[in-house]
Amino acid sequence: MKILVFSLLLNISIQTNFPSVTVTAEMLQQRLGVNSIDKSSTSKPISDIDLPPTLPMIFGTENSSVIFAQSGSIALLPCIIHNLGDGTVSWIRRKAVQQLLTVGLSTYASDGRFQAIHFHHNEDWTLQIKYVQSRDAGIYECQVSTHPPTSIFLFLEVVEASAEIDGPAEKFVRPGSTLQLHCQVKKSTEVPSYLFWFHNFRMINYDVDLGVNVSTDLTNRESWLYVPRALDRHSGNYTCKASNAQPARVYVHIFNGDNPAAMQHSLASTRSTFLATLAWLIISAVQTSIDSQLRIF
Ligand SMILES: *[C@@H]1O[C@H](CO)[C@@H](O)[C@H](O)[C@H]1NC(C)=O
Ligand SMILES: *[C@@H]1O[C@H](CO)[C@@H](O)[C@H](O)[C@H]1NC(C)=O
Ligand SMILES: *[C@@H]1O[C@H](CO)[C@@H](O)[C@H](O)[C@H]1NC(C)=O
Repeated sequence: MKILVFSLLLNISIQTNFPSVTVTAEMLQQRLGVNSIDKSSTSKPISDIDLPPTLPMIFGTENSSVIFAQSGSIALLPCIIHNLGDGTVSWIRRKAVQQLLTVGLSTYASDGRFQAIHFHHNEDWTLQIKYVQSRDAGIYECQVSTHPPTSIFLFLEVVEASAEIDGPAEKFVRPGSTLQLHCQVKKSTEVPSYLFWFHNFRMINYDVDLGVNVSTDLTNRESWLYVPRALDRHSGNYTCKASNAQPARVYVHIFNGDNPAAMQHSLASTRSTFLATLAWLIISAVQTSIDSQLRIF
C-alpha cells in the first residue's frame, strides 16, 4: 500500500500557481528510513469487478480559505474530502523551504504541535496546530494522492487577542456613586478559560465583602465590574486580564468635593484662553484685509 502511494506520488507533480511540490518518496524516506517500508503489504485486490463505479474525489473545503486563530490557541485548518477512496491526505507547509507536516494520520514534522485529526468514516482531515504562534502564519497545502495529486491551499492568520475596557483610560468617580467598568476581549477565536479583574495587584473577582461585584460571561468574552458605593480606597489601576489575551488597564480617580470643581475650572480657563486667541486672530485678519483694501483705493 505504502509502496503504491509512493510510486503514484513519485511520478506526478501538480500544476499550481505556487512552485510545484509533491509528497515524494525522498521526503518520506527522510522521516521513515527506507527499512521501515513494509514490502509485504503491497498486494492489493486488482481484479475486483464487483466494485461500484468510483465517484470523483472533490474537496468540501473551499480553496484559498483564510483561517483566523488567536495566538496561543489551537488552530484548526479544515480539509474536507468527498470520495477520497484509498487516497492519502498530506499536509504541507508552504514556505521558502517546503515542510511535510503529516501524511495520513502520521506526523512528519519534528515540531510536535502539528497533527492531522481524522475520525473513521468522517470526511474531514483537519490539521491541528497547538499553541499557535505568529510564525505559524502562512500557506498550508492539503494534498490528496490522486493522479495527478490535487491540492487546496489554506491561509492561516494568527491574531493577537486583547482586552478592552470601554471609555477613556482615566475615569473620575464621585465618592458614594457607582463605579462601573465593562471589559470585552477582542479578536478572540477561543473562549477564554478565565477573565480576572485586578485592582492594582489584587485579583478582585470575589471581593464581594469589599464592595466589588463582578459578573462575567466567558462565552461572549466580556465582564462587568460594579462598585455600587465607590470609596477612596477604590481608586487606582483596574486591569482586565483574560487567558490568551493582552490585558487592558484604566485608572480610576475617586474625587472628594473640590477636586471636580478644580478640574472644571481648569477646563473653563483653557476654553476662555482658546476663545480669546480665536477672537484676536479674527480681529487681526479683519484689520489686515481692511488695511490692504485701504491701500488699493
Ligand atoms: C486551489 O487553488 C490553487 C491556486 O489557485 C490551484 O492551483 C489549485 O488547483 C486549486 N485546487 C483546486 C482543487 O481547485
Ligand atoms: C451584582 O450585580 C448583578 C448584576 O447587576 C446583580 O444582579 C447582583 O445582585 C449583584 N450582586 C451584589 C452582591 O451586589
Ligand atoms: C498604575 O499603573 C501605572 C502604569 O503601570 C503606574 O505608573 C502607577 O504607579 C500605578 N498606580 C498605582 C496606584 O498602582
